[in-house]
Amino acid sequence: MANVVIVGTQWGDEGKGKVVDLLTGYADCIVRFQGGNNAGHTLVVEGKQYIFHLIPSGILYEDKRCFIGNGVVVDPAVLLQEMDELAAAGLPVTPERLMLSRTAHCIMPYHKSLDKGSEAALAKGKKIGTTGRGIGPCYGDKILRKGIRLGDLLDPAFFRERLVDNVAEKNKLLTELGLPTHDVDAIYDEFQRYAERLAPFLGNVSVALDEARKAGRHILFEGAQGTQLDIDHGTYPFVTSSNTVAGNACTGSGFGPSHIDCVIGIVKAYTTRVGEGPFPTELFDEIGDRIQKKGGEFGATTGRKRRCGWLDMVVVNEAVRLNGINGLAITKLDVLSGLDRLRIATAYEHEGVTHTAMPWNARMTGQVTPCYEEAEGWSEELGEARHFDDLPPKAKAYIRRLEELAGAPAYVVSVGPDREKTILLRNPFESA
Ligand code: GDP
Ligand code: IMO
Ligand code: MG
Repeated sequence: MANVVIVGTQWGDEGKGKVVDLLTGYADCIVRFQGGNNAGHTLVVEGKQYIFHLIPSGILYEDKRCFIGNGVVVDPAVLLQEMDELAAAGLPVTPERLMLSRTAHCIMPYHKSLDKGSEAALAKGKKIGTTGRGIGPCYGDKILRKGIRLGDLLDPAFFRERLVDNVAEKNKLLTELGLPTHDVDAIYDEFQRYAERLAPFLGNVSVALDEARKAGRHILFEGAQGTQLDIDHGTYPFVTSSNTVAGNACTGSGFGPSHIDCVIGIVKAYTTRVGEGPFPTELFDEIGDRIQKKGGEFGATTGRKRRCGWLDMVVVNEAVRLNGINGLAITKLDVLSGLDRLRIATAYEHEGVTHTAMPWNARMTGQVTPCYEEAEGWSEELGEARHFDDLPPKAKAYIRRLEELAGAPAYVVSVGPDREKTILLRNPFESA
């Protein structure tokens, strides 16, 4: 029995979907614990690409149980659409295969209007570059104790009462922004239809996970976003609105911390960021363009071009500490093939002072100069490597240096988007 958390160590899009899919093969239960459909997790199985925004990617395995924990914010329309798409692809999502926490908060139509409206109202340079999915306003209402939870949809009188108060308040804000307002009856009717379909899926995720644990099942917690997007520990305010770090796997699903056995941090072999905010190792030259093209670095949710830069070990080491990472999954190593020389940031310099931890605020992070060490590149393509020794010596040296700088061993090295384009060095479910 082992319970494993997978988190992104950078600014998201590290390849969590691919690694989660791979490790799901050894798990029985897969749990989302934070974020919402701002996430875009891509996996490629037998040449077919799947992108999941909300449902854990484990749903592709028919014998696994998937869970959406209380820490997730759920847009019911998106969830039902994802279920319909899976059903159309021959994978019906049944209550036996997916349980939704009754206490997960609903993303309401006014959350989406407010997310887009407030972003549009911000001056250039102040925008966050959100995904526009209503994530921030929904978590905001949760903290302000105004939110509507999935279970509330099953109590029509209570739901209506909460909705009336919320719509009145949000319509005032929307009017101030010069945006269209919302109608209580329209939302009420729409959400009653969702409630009917979602009712059989609602349950007590904490109890179900505890039962699974006691029965000796392997549980995999699938993080969304990345450590630098964490609301507390990331480059605030250029972050998402949830805790993305491993500690939230427990809070966001109702699972006791002493039962977590292993935390795996996903590290892209270089760095990317989508949306606004500081990015010390960002490349603005042809190398950045080349990585962006070869890596296919476009947002899986919004289609935006991802900003690209060198591997930043200040960022990765921050994640090792904050998440208590036991092992690394290094992804997209194949994208670096063909570059003569590689650079790895090991520290930052700011006003004559050297820093090895992330500065505490985004303004300072935007002003630092990365201190680089150089690594030799390799020309060979890596897509066919299945064992560590299949890799060219310089690619091996890059991984060994990354492990050394992080103080954590590589469990997985990924050399392509497909499930089989993987080198599994250590299995967290077997070695935990
Ligand atoms: P996530 O949000 O962390 O799940 O990552 P995304 O799915 O948003 O972005 C990662 C992208 O890289 C996807 O298009 C994956 O199919 C792709 N990918 C994952 N691992 C590898 C790899 O090792 N090599 C290459 N070339 N692509 C990969
Ligand atoms: P996955 O799980 C990359 C970024 C947005 C924006 C900021 C806030 O695929 O790694 P939000 O809509 O969450 O309020 O936007 O966070 N962001 C992501 N960037 N990958 C993601 O998810 C992201 N989810 C949010 O671009 O900068
Ligand atoms: Mg993504």
